[in-house]
Amino acid sequence: TAENISTIQNLHQFDGQTATLQGWVQNIRSSKSLIFVIMRDGSGLCQCIVSKADVADEVWEQAGTLTQESSLRIKGNIRKDDRSVSGYELHVQELEIIQIAQDYPITPKEHGVEFLMENRHLWLRSQRQWAAMRVRNRIIFAIHEFFQQQGFVQLDAPIFTGNAAEGTTNLFETDYFDQKAYLSQSGQLYGEAMALAHGKIYTFGPTFRAEKSKTRRHLTEFWMVEPEMAFYDLKMNMDLAEDMVVFIVEAVLRDCRSELETLGRDITKLEQVKKPFPRITYTEAVELLSGDKTKELLDTMERENKQALESISKEIPELEAEHGQAKKGRKFQIDRRLKLLRAQREEAEENLRNLPVWRKSALETKWGDDFGGSDETLLTMHFDRPIMVHGYPAEIKAFYMKRDPNDDRVALGVDVLAPEGYGEMIGGAQREDDLETLRTRIAEHELDESVFSWYLDLRRFGTVPHSGFGLGLERTVAWICGLSHVRETIPFPRMLGRLTP
Ligand code: 4AD
Ligand code: MG
Repeated sequence: TAENISTIQNLHQFDGQTATLQGWVQNIRSSKSLIFVIMRDGSGLCQCIVSKADVADEVWEQAGTLTQESSLRIKGNIRKDDRSVSGYELHVQELEIIQIAQDYPITPKEHGVEFLMENRHLWLRSQRQWAAMRVRNRIIFAIHEFFQQQGFVQLDAPIFTGNAAEGTTNLFETDYFDQKAYLSQSGQLYGEAMALAHGKIYTFGPTFRAEKSKTRRHLTEFWMVEPEMAFYDLKMNMDLAEDMVVFIVEAVLRDCRSELETLGRDITKLEQVKKPFPRITYTEAVELLSGDKTKELLDTMERENKQALESISKEIPELEAEHGQAKKGRKFQIDRRLKLLRAQREEAEENLRNLPVWRKSALETKWGDDFGGSDETLLTMHFDRPIMVHGYPAEIKAFYMKRDPNDDRVALGVDVLAPEGYGEMIGGAQREDDLETLRTRIAEHELDESVFSWYLDLRRFGTVPHSGFGLGLERTVAWICGLSHVRETIPFPRMLGRLTP
């Protein structure tokens, strides 16, 4: 049946007509006279109804053999139905089974995350994972729209490189014939060269860091967009970063409503992402962290988490007791509620475990220290939108950052911290543009000047003030989707201990 093949997304074009869908069985329920097949085709979900009274015996029999993830074509009449996720239902006339799938490992019941990660190639088909990848796609597209509309040129930096841009501790080293090569940690240094050729450029590609600790924010392979602009100072750089983040969030809010709903994202939090973002200096951030306001915040968190834990600990056994006697529909409701409560309990317990550590780390923060993940979380909890922290101590930042002309201890760098505990999503800076100063910095960082000779040329031949930043794609996806771990923000995550699938 080649005629009227449709995707679920386009079913509105076939209202009242006969159309064919091609896809997979996401779920199946049956009664004596009806079989409900939830069909998944990559563009959405559609309920397909097989009615024993309306179809040939052989179609009814075939439908009875379907299993989860079986592949098939289904032909039938398309009817508008507001209760259905896609807005349409398909009343089945014919089935063409392509394959009856074997027992599918990922069932609607709960699975541990290690199991799901081992089955990432299949897990990608699940609704939440599907929704997150859709949002990822929209964010990537928004990034290109944003920069292309402003006349930026997208150019690619190499992945094999001889240059360490972001320190030497987390380099992946590899053999490049008889030379040593690294996998790129950042396209920035090449971006600077390209900006001096094209004015405003951005690179967008995979970057690599041998992160040896397991955290919810670190991958060993992640994607970064890195704009670099000639004649931009730090302030212009910050304005651009702010505009870009607002643009991305607006695009997702406009075009990914149903995905955000599937993910259970609190949209009101994203709607607050408006200009201007608070801009605070590193010095102000240290004062805020070690001051009374943070003490109060920590006390409130402790109180609230204890209360939450108490009420959850009451409700769970009540529901578990009810579960035994409950009817099917109610059982389903209870399971869902239990799942949510258990996740909340885990979160509250983790918070309570972490709080003393956070407290210590925040209150003891003094000028010169780098912020840890918990410090960033606490800092952003004082605000309702991303914040920009600028003027970090030069000591803890990369060699290429220009110093503040008014305070040599301070680098003209900026970090954008995402709200709700998602931490640093952007790092950027105005670059050191003076040849001799840059050579001094390279020496201070104990880097080998010879591998930077081409980079130093950029300061020999028409150096200009210039700036840029890098946005980590996966951290941005995690924040916008409200995912607790970056492993769910990229199709096939690479982390410590994870190379397959
Ligand atoms: O702050 P970073 O290290 O900055 C740079 O690499 C600059 N050269 C960028 C530039 O100015 N062109 O990294 C930038 C961003 C971070 O803010 C974070 O979002 C992300 O990259 N990032 C990671 N994301 C996932 N896993 C990791 N291991 C990451 N390391 C950095
Ligand atoms: Mg950084």
